[in-house]
Amino acid sequence: MSQDDTLIEATEAVVAENFVEVSYDDAIPNNVNLSSDRQLLRALEGWHPGYIDWWKDMGPEGFQEADVYLRTAVGVDPAGWAKFGYVKMPDYRWGILLAPAVPGRTIPHGRHKGEPAWQEVPGEYRSLLKRLIVIQADTEPASVEQQRWLGATAPSLYDLRNLFQVNVEEGRHLWAMVYLLVKYFGKDGREEAQALLERRSGHQDNPRILGAFNEKTPDWLSFFMFTYFTDRDGKMQLAALAESGFDPLSRSCRFMLTEEAHHLFVGETGVGRTVQATVEAMVKAGITDPYDTAAIRRLGVVDLPLLQRKANFHMSVTRDLFGSEISSNAAESFNAGLKGRYHEAQLQDDHQLQDATYPVQRVVQGELVWEDVPALRAINSRLLDDYIADCQGGLDRWNKVIEKAGLHFRFSQPHKGFNRRIGEFAGHRITPAGEVVGEETWAALKDEFLPNAEDIAFIQSLMRPCHQPGQYASWIAPPRMGINQQPVDYEYVKIA
Ligand SMILES: [Fe+2]
Ligand SMILES: [Fe+2]
Repeated sequence: MSQDDTLIEATEAVVAENFVEVSYDDAIPNNVNLSSDRQLLRALEGWHPGYIDWWKDMGPEGFQEADVYLRTAVGVDPAGWAKFGYVKMPDYRWGILLAPAVPGRTIPHGRHKGEPAWQEVPGEYRSLLKRLIVIQADTEPASVEQQRWLGATAPSLYDLRNLFQVNVEEGRHLWAMVYLLVKYFGKDGREEAQALLERRSGHQDNPRILGAFNEKTPDWLSFFMFTYFTDRDGKMQLAALAESGFDPLSRSCRFMLTEEAHHLFVGETGVGRTVQATVEAMVKAGITDPYDTAAIRRLGVVDLPLLQRKANFHMSVTRDLFGSEISSNAAESFNAGLKGRYHEAQLQDDHQLQDATYPVQRVVQGELVWEDVPALRAINSRLLDDYIADCQGGLDRWNKVIEKAGLHFRFSQPHKGFNRRIGEFAGHRITPAGEVVGEETWAALKDEFLPNAEDIAFIQSLMRPCHQPGQYASWIAPPRMGINQQPVDYEYVKIA
């Protein structure tokens, strides 16, 4: 059966079973009734070839012709929104899918709280809203670019497939944001959509907007850490934008969150399986000291302290993505009703925060102190705190794996101010334990906190492809289950 047949069948099945109206009649699968808006459809069809060129240039290197066992979003019903099948990535059906409208939805927060949610762009906030959408949009292609070289060193076909799944879905997230830009922002929106295809992660003259998205993702440990920690920033940002009073943005982000969950799963299980392989090898070799690095590395697995350093790096650069802890821009986005807090509706306050305060940690005269600041100005700080709390679950589960093996080592999150370049802690040297130190001490200890040259060389030495079905690299345990109930030795990618 051709891919199109599979998709048509899938669409019919989904429409029949779940009554979700997804149109695959147009070149662009959608549930936003694109065919009724010829002008918008033409604008998107005009953008499509540039997108495909970008995907071919900057998407997964060397695997564009491979048949990949992918999940395609074919609807938004939680009971059956995806279809699995082999697809060549450039033929993936990137769709525009919005979560269902909530009838009578009102603006959840800020000065317009309680007014009907906007179905069109509120003129007074046009440029602020556009900026929020562009910043979110820019992260989506950026991560695809960062990860484009990883296929060559995949530790298994299962992992290779997961990488590509994440990549095509980040591509779809770009579509989701471009739809908003093109539909609601006219000529400016079309220009922004074009610029999204032109910026490049790490490019000297035309880089991606946010720092962490210009870092390299040079190896698979970085990929798993990225999908656990940095995609989780994505989750938090999407959750905050899902609270937007601009309803199309809210609905778009709500559906993106369902896909994001898989990216977080890839990260958490990727690191977890790495930990699993390490502790199994240590136990088998009778090594009990997690700091017996040389002996552990000889087993072809990653020592736990190195994983901690790697996590430290990814946590700190990702925390920078939340922006300055104290921010008048964030206050205005909240006040204007454009971007809420995490789980806004569940919070027990007035959702306007005119008189509320929020405790923010800062460095004053070389000391860490807590200060109550107006809650409105501390919106970013609060989202960062929620993010840090949300990160902890994975660390706890990784620690369980170590504990079960009878070994003594615990992963922990470094202090919020560790290795920061943006916000309150920028310009200060703070250890993972939360000690403010001088430049000299930092220089002496840095290699214990962050991946050092030896670590990086060792990780590189492990990055050898395992491209046979059922084969897994020494440093990572096979998953407990395959994708979509397929076995773990399934041929998830048919390499052309
Ligand atoms: Fe995304
Ligand atoms: Fe993601």
